[in-house]
Amino acid sequence: MKKIFAANWKLFKSPQETRSFLNSFKKVFSQATGEVVFFPPAISIEAASECLKGSGIHFGAQNCHAQVQGAFTGENSAQVLKELGGTYLLIGHSERRQIFSENDSMIGEKVALAQNLGLIPMLCIGETLEERESIHTFRILETQLALGLSKADPSKPLVVAYEPVWAIGTGKVATPEQVSETHTDVYNILQRLGFTAPILYGGSVKPDNASNLLAQSHVGGFLVGGASLEVESFIKIAST
Ligand code: PGA
Repeated sequence: MKKIFAANWKLFKSPQETRSFLNSFKKVFSQATGEVVFFPPAISIEAASECLKGSGIHFGAQNCHAQVQGAFTGENSAQVLKELGGTYLLIGHSERRQIFSENDSMIGEKVALAQNLGLIPMLCIGETLEERESIHTFRILETQLALGLSKADPSKPLVVAYEPVWAIGTGKVATPEQVSETHTDVYNILQRLGFTAPILYGGSVKPDNASNLLAQSHVGGFLVGGASLEVESFIKIAST
């Protein structure tokens, strides 16, 4: 199956910076060995939509509200994303869970909404360092998947991104053994719940660790933060 290389830009890149990055990226995109998806900040999504038209490069939003419209000051609509040509929706990133108090039930609603609109939910799961050290990783991932997918349709497209919280933005990447073992667990949990989905790894992915990580069992690609902000480092990862 085609690998997926997704760029989570978080709160970086203005519309102008988005255009300039994507115009440069389009020149090297043919080197990519899988599908490429950009998640710009919400205010730069329209710029991405214009730039990427007809390019074969996908984009999506980092978050959205569980309803498509209403009195929800400060939120963004998945329906508007769809209208702009977006294909993916990142849901339940650990920063959303930790900083913005998103819980598994809200996340489950968003996954269902994305699927109902014909968007592909990219559901993020992952354990904290404390949870890993107390050997609770399996149980945490099982709960996040069971609740996050409680309203999802197994017949519709889905992507899961496993991102150990302790590896995000820390430079502390999971070892290939940890990735292989945990991705196998995630694969088995998904099977038991009746889902099949590519499982991306995320957390300090860099050009120099990408090929080793991609070779591990059940690694369907990457969700990349810091190293996706420069064309050179991101295309190196996407051409692994
Ligand atoms: P990182 O971020 O690659 O900078 O660790 C990954 C993410 O937050 O998705």
